[in-house]
Amino acid sequence: MATAGPLLDCQSDAVAGVSNTATSVVITKSAMAKDKIRVAILFGGKSGEHEVSLTSAQGIMKAIDKNKYEVVPIGISQEGHWLVGGDPMKALRAAAEIPPALAAMAEEEAEALQTVLVPLEPGQSPLTTVNAPLELDVIFPVLHGPYGEDGTVQGLLELTGLPYVGAGVTASAVSMDKAIAKDIFCSHGFPVLPYRVVLRKRWETDPTSVISDCEAALRYPMFTKPANLGSSVGVSRARNRQELVAGLDQAAHFDRKLIVEQGIQAREIEVSILGNEDPIASVPGEIIPSRDFYSYAAKYIDNASDLLIPAPISEELTEQVRQLAIKAYTCVDCAGMARVDFLMDKVTQELWLNEMNTIPGFTPISMYPKLWEATGISYTELIDRLIQLAFERHTDKSRTETSFDTSMAT
Ligand SMILES: Nc1ncnc2c1ncn2[C@@H]1O[C@H](COP(=O)(O)OP(=O)(O)O)[C@@H](O)[C@H]1O
Ligand SMILES: [Mg+2]
Repeated sequence: MATAGPLLDCQSDAVAGVSNTATSVVITKSAMAKDKIRVAILFGGKSGEHEVSLTSAQGIMKAIDKNKYEVVPIGISQEGHWLVGGDPMKALRAAAEIPPALAAMAEEEAEALQTVLVPLEPGQSPLTTVNAPLELDVIFPVLHGPYGEDGTVQGLLELTGLPYVGAGVTASAVSMDKAIAKDIFCSHGFPVLPYRVVLRKRWETDPTSVISDCEAALRYPMFTKPANLGSSVGVSRARNRQELVAGLDQAAHFDRKLIVEQGIQAREIEVSILGNEDPIASVPGEIIPSRDFYSYAAKYIDNASDLLIPAPISEELTEQVRQLAIKAYTCVDCAGMARVDFLMDKVTQELWLNEMNTIPGFTPISMYPKLWEATGISYTELIDRLIQLAFERHTDKSRTETSFDTSMAT
């Protein structure tokens, strides 16, 4: 049976972020005989967006309504260890500064820290291991990228039986995989830039046919990307064959599935969506990247990309973008939240659906909450609404029967 990384008590060793003992935790539904809702904030994680997640979670923990919620921080280290108790945020921040020490320690202890599975009582969480129970009412995963935003953690949270914020397994996995997402969006008639999906294996064994396929289907410039990643990691623009080869080589470091896409001169328009089955759309925003495209450096290093809120586009286009974003969200059965990103051709003004992020950057200055702020929902209220949506979805799901009375069979 698959399970999570271990939940650790990091109190004993808050700086290194790794406990010496294989303490683990039972997650149970809180008894509710109290006045505050216990919400676990899950942050960090095994992705290149670990740092962004820490900042997003820090923002949420600061702004959350403390009269209504009691926060239980749960940090996930870059090695995949789950940290509870003490100050996991401090532990992960410290760990980020001393990665070799943590890595060495983690390697030594990896075996000892395996989650222990015990027989489950009805209603008990499959995260059950040993020791102290961790009583929770709801979980808010604030994990960006693979192993957090891609359905893996959502699957684990489903198994706990607890409500959790955001998209479920399918919408998370589909949105993370650009190849699958584009296939689905295309099949529903959304405007998607022409693209080719290339398996790394084929690229490595038959590069000539890959290049001729791409050149037959697309014009330069082309964009090369790993299918499952974010933050523009491994994304390049190829202006000629030589750059296409280099771009595919680079993307192949990060995934076994690669995308080659028609490049355009793009304006970047984004919309925030909130809700379950009746989602609402924010005003759109526009990003003005500090480089020739919204690369990793433009996102996180330069600190010079601008957000224009609302996007300076016509009313008609604003409405079109908002409606398309809601449709895309509904099409993959998303829940809670997502940021839907568009590319608008600067030359032809055509609008293309680029991607959907189910756990978008959530720092107080990130596009997702900023767009809601401009639409009239404050950061604190947004957090509250997302948690309430998690409860609503859970309640609705609980109505679904999971067993079938065979005497009813026809
Ligand atoms: N087809 C394209 N044409 C023009 N620019 C693109 C195209 N695809 C990606 N980009 C640029 O690369 C950035 C990152 O690509 P994206 O597909 O959004 O990946 P990520 O999931 O890493 O954000 C975009 O924000 C945009 O600036
Ligand atoms: Mg993007």
